[in-house]
Order: sequence, then structure tokens, then C-alpha cells
Amino acid sequence: MANTEREAAERIRELRQTITGHDERYYREASPEISDPEYDRLKQELTDLEARFPQFASADSPAQTIGDDRLEAFTSYRHREPMASLDNTYNEEELRAFHQRLVKLFGEEDLAYVVEPKIDGVAVSLTFEEGKLVRAVTRGNGIEGDDVTHNVRTIRSLPARLAGEDWPAMIEIRGEIFMETAEFERINTERAEAGLPLYANPRNLAAGTVKLLDSREAAKRRLRIVLYGRGYCEPMPFERQSGFHDALRKWELPTVDKYWVTRGMEETWKAVTELDALRHDFAYPTDGAVIKLDSIARQEEAGSTSKAPRWAIAYKFAAERAETVVRAISIQVGRTGTLTPVAELEPVPLAGSTVSRATLHNADEIARKDVRAGDAVLVEKAGEIIPAVVAVVPGKRPPDSQPYAFPEKCPVCETAVIRLPNEVATRCPNLSCPAQVRRRIQHFASRQCMDIEGLGEAVVDQLVNRGLVHSLPDLYHLRLEDLLDLEKFAQKSSENLLRALEESKSRELWRLIHGLGIQHIGATASKDLARAIPDLEKLAAASEEELTVIDGIGPITARSIAAYFANADNRELIHKLTAAGLTVRGEETAGAPAEGPLSGKSFVLTGKLPTLSRTGAGELIESAGGRVVSSVSKKTDYVLAGEEAGSKLDKARSLGIPVLDESDLRKLLQNGGNGES
Ligand code: IVH
Repeated sequence: MANTEREAAERIRELRQTITGHDERYYREASPEISDPEYDRLKQELTDLEARFPQFASADSPAQTIGDDRLEAFTSYRHREPMASLDNTYNEEELRAFHQRLVKLFGEEDLAYVVEPKIDGVAVSLTFEEGKLVRAVTRGNGIEGDDVTHNVRTIRSLPARLAGEDWPAMIEIRGEIFMETAEFERINTERAEAGLPLYANPRNLAAGTVKLLDSREAAKRRLRIVLYGRGYCEPMPFERQSGFHDALRKWELPTVDKYWVTRGMEETWKAVTELDALRHDFAYPTDGAVIKLDSIARQEEAGSTSKAPRWAIAYKFAAERAETVVRAISIQVGRTGTLTPVAELEPVPLAGSTVSRATLHNADEIARKDVRAGDAVLVEKAGEIIPAVVAVVPGKRPPDSQPYAFPEKCPVCETAVIRLPNEVATRCPNLSCPAQVRRRIQHFASRQCMDIEGLGEAVVDQLVNRGLVHSLPDLYHLRLEDLLDLEKFAQKSSENLLRALEESKSRELWRLIHGLGIQHIGATASKDLARAIPDLEKLAAASEEELTVIDGIGPITARSIAAYFANADNRELIHKLTAAGLTVRGEETAGAPAEGPLSGKSFVLTGKLPTLSRTGAGELIESAGGRVVSSVSKKTDYVLAGEEAGSKLDKARSLGIPVLDESDLRKLLQNGGNGES
């Protein structure tokens, strides 16, 4: 603890620098290195020190300001009413002290509060004018934020208009954008397959998605939103926060599942405990409760400090933690050669599951925390899906312990590892490294790619270890006698695998593209590519410019594909695959389009239809000869729009493209493509 003035000055300087760095990574880069509770502890230490040594206080200290998420590439927009932050507390005493301050101010014990979930998402402010959503802006620095309307409009559950007629002429509505765990996992699986770095938790992925420049990319990741707060409002019809919640429901906006109206501290505390028990059932990550004075007149009377209101406080639930011992630190080599250090732990129960491994991210992170084999460590799950090693428990380190030395050679093939400037990852550069080969083949054979039944991890390991397979084409030269020798392989299973390999030769083109494991190319991009250029040779010959104009393909993906096919080894690989008899099919040959009343017509679907699902509507259109495409352009013939249709509908209108509803579609199916609605 800093006791002298000099020590305090030094620690304050250090903390300010550390916190500013973490703010940068959390708000701007959406990739924090520490958990929220760790961050809050640093901030608390700084706040305490600045209070004890006021001579060092400064208005621009990160203890006095809030983070800033604004990025160069976006237009910033000034909030009509600033977006404040909240004071955080982790204990009941501080919550009671908050109440007591208000009791003193109003001279009344039984103050009415609203208790709401504290959602761990990305804060956003939506402006509605005459009931219409006109703008969505991030919090930014609280005064002005980035205009992210294009991405927010892709959120399907967010209506473009408020329901009913009864709304203020202009209102800023605040809430959090989030992503459900299942969607987070789907995207991370795709990223892992494409050799891209993974997002640590759904919040970071949601933050990264909100800040995408291309809303077509954002639309592929399902963001969701939940609204709870009010900014500027003209005229101002609300007297209570609870009344505002009722209005949100009436306008049919997505809002919190439950909130409590309480009187006094006992009822409030009870509501906080109830919320804690319920929160895991909510779709959005909830890391605390927000307690707000219900009366808006009283909120105004209580006022705010420079960064947070006095009428509200966040009570954060403690992250679940456990202490355990690091048995060893192991290294995993990924498909693209990245070396990831993993802490192998004494198994320990934590937040409903048994944890026996935790990622240590990279060399810098191990060094920063000084994690060593034999150390007692704290592991924490705070919304994160992958448990993290928070810190080493001091005083329990075995006397003979040595700092962890990050390997200089790949633990699998012993090639000297490399680390590129500006990259945190350490890589094995040997493309023939058995670990990489194994992972590449596993990926190629997986269900999301060539779907080769019977070619699971254990079989791939044996094939690579025995030197039977060095690269993808070798798979197609395997003979019955090679397989009969493998463990647990008999005549029947060997024949089955050979048959599965044979069948895989005529899979759809996108499966092969995905299976090649090109950086940045997941299943969705592979489908976009195969649809646009349904011929492998032509795809390989396409220039970066030609690739960039493909629907769904941005400049980074285009560059990655062009670079892949520019490499002579990769062209040789494709050549060998074709020589081995692969006749993958593009869309053109995947079955000629049906002939029917909609032949030659292209449709874009948007919003929720009253009876048909989107897939159902798509199938109807395709079976009548029509085509479903993903984005609206001048060439689109019709837009089929349902409830909650977003930007595609706006675009269709601005281009004068006919917009149909479900019953118009049914008429069209009966009358043929000429019966305009
Ligand atoms: S009220 C002036 N209510 O937490 C009132 N904020 O740590 C400020 N948050 O900036 C916000 N759930 O982004 C409020 N039910 C809730 C919330 C909530 C999440 C976020 C919000 C705020 C941050 C402060």
C-alpha cells in the first residue's frame, strides 16, 4: 500500500496508465485483457488513492472520466442528453449507504425504487422522431458517440417504428446491445475454423459487431437489444421510471424481462436477491442490479456528480471464483500454427461446471501475471465462457519454482517459432508441422466442410503419425490395406471410410472452399463465394478487385483469397485434389433452378412473416423458379417484407422496388410473375 506521498504519486501514475490502457482495449478494440471485477478493483484503488492524496487529483484521471469508444472511421454524434455512467458497488453496506444518503436528502425512509437487471452489453442511444427510429449512437465519451445506425437497423427484434400513436415527438431511448451465447459460440466456431483469433466473450463480440463498417457483415451476426433508459425527451410525459418501463412495453420495444418497484431498503435488497436467482434465465448477460429512484422529479432533485447520477447505483454480483493449482502449462498448436498456452489445472468446481483447463492467451499474458507450474491460482468466470486465470495466489509458490519460459521451438515439430511485429501470437512457421497438418485435415473432414464420416480426430492422428497422410490430397490415395492396419479398424470400417471419401469427391463447392482453411474464410463467406463464382478454377484466377464486388465479401477476405491462390503450393494442392478425382459442384450444377411462375425473378426477404418462416418462404419462391438473394440492389425484382423489416425495406423503397407481403406472394405464386400487386 502506498503510504508516503512519493509512493502514492508513483502508484497513481502507474494505475492511470494501466487503466487508460485497459479502457482502450475494452472500449475501442473490444478485446479486454482482464475481467470486469479485476478492472473495477484497479479503478477502486485509484479512486481511494486520489481521495487520500487530493493533491494529485486531476480532472482527466481515468477515475474521474468514463471510457471512450469512438473510432476514426465513424461519424460522431452529440447526445442531446449526456450518457452518464453509474457508480458500482460489490457489497450490501455500500448499497445501504447509497440509500441513507437519499433518506437524508428527502427526509423519508420508504423511498420508492426500481430494481432492474444490469445488462453487460454495449451501451447505445436510439433516437426516435415522430415514432420513427432515426439514429443509433454508441456511448462514446458520454457526450458524443459513434453513429452506428446502419448496424443497429440489422437487429431483427428492434422495430423501426414505435407501436401505437402515443409517443413523445422526440425521445432518446437507451439500452444495451448484446449477443446470445449460442450465437457467440456459432461465430467463434466459424472463426476458429477460419484460423482467426477468438472473441473472449459475447460482450466483446457484440461490441466488435456494433463497430463493423459494413452492415451486411453485421447482419450475419445476430445482435439483440434490450432497452431500459431515457435520455432527452420532448415533451416529457413521464413521472416515474416504472411508468417509462410500461411505455417501452406499450411501444413494443424489446425491454427487460422483469423489474421490481420497491419501498425502502429491505424490499430493495430482497428484489436484488430475487434478481440474482433469476438472472441466468435471461437471454442477456446480467452482471448486477441497477437501483434507481422511481420518481423522476426526485431523480432531478438528487442530481449527478461529474460522472454518475446520485439517484442510481449498480450493485454487481460477485464473479464466481475458485482457487486451484496449475499442474502444468501446455502448448496447443492450431491449424494456422499459433501456439496457445493452456494452464492444466487440478479440477475444481466453478459456476456449475468442473474446470480443468484455462487459457493463458499468449506469451505476454503469462509473463504479465507470472503464472508458473505449481502455482496456486484464482480462476474466475465473469460472463466469460472460457475461464480465465485471474492471478497467482501470493505466498503459496513452491520454493523451487521457475518462471515459465515460452518455447522457442514448436513443441510438435521443433521448428524455431516466430513472432511477427504487431502480433501477440507466436507461430510455428512450418506448414508441414504434424500438429498443423492434423488440424487442417480434421477441419477439411469436419461436418461443416467435406463431411467425411469416419474421419474423426483419432483416425486423423493415426494417419498423420504413420506417415500415410501429409497433405489433403493424400486422403484420396488411401488404400484398403493402409486402413486395415489402423487401430480399431476392420474390413467393414475401412470400406466405409473409403466409401465416405469417394462420396466426398462430389460435395458442393462451398464445402471445399471452406475445407481449404483459408484465413478469414468461414462457412458463410465460402457460400457467398461459391454462389458468385461457381467454378474453382475461375475462383482461383479471380483478382482481388473482382472478389471485392461479390456480395458479402469485404476487402480483407478478398485479399486473403487472392493471396491464397497466388501461392504456388496452394495452386499445386488444388491441382492434386482435382487430379485425385474431386469434382466439387458449384451452384450452377447443384441442380438446375425449377421452372415456374417466378422464373428469372429475384427476391430479398426481410422481417417476420405472419405464417411462413423465412426458409419456408424461400423454398416456395425457389420451387416456383425464383431466386432468393441476400441484399437489395437495383437488380432485385421484389422485396418480401414482414413485421420488423429493417434497412432492406428502406432501401427497396428508395430504389422503387415493389414490396410484397405474404399474401401478395401467395397471389404471385398463383398468377405468375406478371400479376403485379
Ligand atoms: S442506467 C444515468 N440501467 O451500465 C443512468 N444502466 O455502468 C445510467 N447498464 O452506462 C444508466 N444495465 O451502459 C442503467 N438497467 C440499467 C443498465 C445500465 C446496464 C449500463 C449502462 C451504463 C453502465 C454503467
